[in-house]
Amino acid sequence: MQASGHPDDFPARITETGDGVAPALLGWYDANARRLPWRSHPGTPAPDPYRVWLSEVMLQQTTVAAVGPYFEKFTRTWPTVHDLAAADDATVMAAWAGLGYYARARNLLACARAVAQLGAFPDSEEGLRALPGLGAYTAAAVAAIAFDRRAVVVDANVERVVARLFAIDTPLPAARPAIRAATDTITPAARAGDFAQAMMDLGATICTVKAPRCLLCPLRGACRAEREGRAETLPVKAAKKAKPQRQGRAFWIERTGPDGAVQVLVVTRPGKGMLGGMRALPDDGWSARADGHGQPPQDGTWRSAGVVRHGFTHFDLDLQLMVGEGGSAANIPGAHWWPRADMENAGLPTVFAKAARLALAGAQEV
Ligand code: ADE
Repeated sequence: MQASGHPDDFPARITETGDGVAPALLGWYDANARRLPWRSHPGTPAPDPYRVWLSEVMLQQTTVAAVGPYFEKFTRTWPTVHDLAAADDATVMAAWAGLGYYARARNLLACARAVAQLGAFPDSEEGLRALPGLGAYTAAAVAAIAFDRRAVVVDANVERVVARLFAIDTPLPAARPAIRAATDTITPAARAGDFAQAMMDLGATICTVKAPRCLLCPLRGACRAEREGRAETLPVKAAKKAKPQRQGRAFWIERTGPDGAVQVLVVTRPGKGMLGGMRALPDDGWSARADGHGQPPQDGTWRSAGVVRHGFTHFDLDLQLMVGEGGSAANIPGAHWWPRADMENAGLPTVFAKAARLALAGAQEV
């Protein structure tokens, strides 16, 4: 019998061992798949591997809603992997600004260039995994979604669904091998890409972190955590370490440019390390491991324009914005001038974009 998409049709046919999970989930997906710009609709030909790969890299640690405009912009500017491979680093880094985890953008470019050399994306999980900067998750996701290969795809949504389905009590991250093995047992040979995306959609819309909507779930009846009335308590997460609080300073230096327009001194950060290769305001060398040294990049009179708070993955930063009177780019590595009226397009990572907004708000007040 063909699944109709109604949850009540499914539970009876799913067994304790997970048999029947894939047909139930795929039936639900056929009726409920989210329409996303990088996706083919269920049952239609597989999407362009470039679009699948780009979306998967963007979606790591970032929400579907946040990724949408970036995906549109990237695919408009660089419609193929060859276009992206030929782009210059600074332009791509600036286009990535705001998505966070900037090493991903550097890896993205390295990978695009390797694919351009090969001529096309490899069509197997192993071939994809061999590309520079392309990790195990992305290789599995692209192999399944773009090439319809059977691959075990586990992101945070899948992790939650599977931890509940099999009532895996081990805390994360120690539970990962068990979750992967359990996902392997329910991944079908056919439609593995749809299956992976169906699991993601289920996690995003029904099997949510808080208040899961178990009554609407196509896997109700197969889900051990739901039967035991504890879906919301899984997966268990190991207690988070407290984040260190770091202090730093950024410096705002203006001049009147040759064309009469006011310019702001920006720097291109060194390629390696935190926010590597990104355009930024000059700062005092703060990092995940240490506070900044506090010293401005040049002599002069400085005043505080306020403090920006920003949360990074492993630390929180209080960034004091210091505004200088007069200034030159001399002796500041990577320094160049950017029009003050166009700071929005400088491609500053979020922490510096916040500082720039603070400076500009202050400038408007006077
Ligand atoms: N998260 C990561 N990849 C995704 C995809 N292909 N669809 C929906 N959410 C996702």
